Amino acid sequence: MSKNVVSKKPDSSEFRGARVVVTGASSGIGQAIAVRTANSGASSVLVHYRKNREGAEQTAEMLRQQGTEVFLTSADLSDPDQAEQLVDAAWNQLGHVTTWVNNAGADVLTSKSAELDFQSKLRLLLEVDLVNTIGLSRLVADRMLKQTAAVSGSNVPPSMTFIGWDQAPAGMEGDAGQMFGPVKAAVMAYANSLAQTLSPHVRVNTVAPGWIQTAWGQSTSEYWNQRARSQSLMARWGTPQDVARAVCFLAAPGNTFCTGQTLNVNGGWNRRPDHLGGD
Ligand SMILES: NC(=O)c1ccc[n+]([C@@H]2O[C@H](COP(=O)([O-])OP(=O)(O)OC[C@H]3O[C@@H](n4cnc5c(N)ncnc54)[C@H](OP(=O)(O)O)[C@@H]3O)[C@@H](O)[C@H]2O)c1
Repeated sequence: MSKNVVSKKPDSSEFRGARVVVTGASSGIGQAIAVRTANSGASSVLVHYRKNREGAEQTAEMLRQQGTEVFLTSADLSDPDQAEQLVDAAWNQLGHVTTWVNNAGADVLTSKSAELDFQSKLRLLLEVDLVNTIGLSRLVADRMLKQTAAVSGSNVPPSMTFIGWDQAPAGMEGDAGQMFGPVKAAVMAYANSLAQTLSPHVRVNTVAPGWIQTAWGQSTSEYWNQRARSQSLMARWGTPQDVARAVCFLAAPGNTFCTGQTLNVNGGWNRRPDHLGGD
């Protein structure tokens, strides 16, 4: 490893020696999470993607520059068999997993899937974000419980982190609210039940992002641009890095008293009727 690469490592080493899996790490929030774990000392990261190989390679390159060992694995999580293969690949490649982040989510806003009708979009979200993410998580849980006994010298519980949505519990008007609301609320509810089930052996937490400027936010209308900014007390869009910071806080191996929690990352919800103005 060159001196240059070593000098890029920040002081923080919260993830030193961690073996990390981030699903949907080929772009947006997942890419930022993978990069932050590497910056914080992770030794190995599995970068999962579905079809954006170029994006996954870009993530991998950023991780390698930190001296992190990288594995790339493609799996379409609308297919339960591929979800199972991803879990097998993770344990085969990493040996054991300390940190699993369920970030992948179907894009029904900007991809070809945006042309589907409401019911088809809802089914896709349910399959990818909920049903197969639950199936995957149950397999991950089994492996983590077995490895906890097997990994010698480690009494640090591994963690799983889920991605919800800040507006899911209260609801939002329109088709997007009616699709993402029930799906992400169920993801958040599942994560809480999994935390109850797996304690004290595996920690499970959720990050619930607000308006985060990924693909949809970069190309959306002026109306949504203004709305995203004005609904946050911080008067701006969130960034993938804002979300990654929260995920890494919850998932950090040393954060051993933190489980069953949901952390909103939305800049603080703005309840003032005039949004940004007023005294
Ligand atoms: N952006 C926001 O404002 C916001 C707010 C709340 C929650 N979230 C959630 O945050 C997560 C990340 O979102 P993002 O904005 O970063 O989106 P993104 O850039 O579109 O990333 C989505 C990731 O999920 C993967 N993915 C999509 N469909 C998949 C499938 N069928 N099987 C496996 N992987 C699949 C994609 O892989 P490929 O591209 O390689 O196919 C990509 O890596 C999602 O769960 C999303 O619902 C986002």
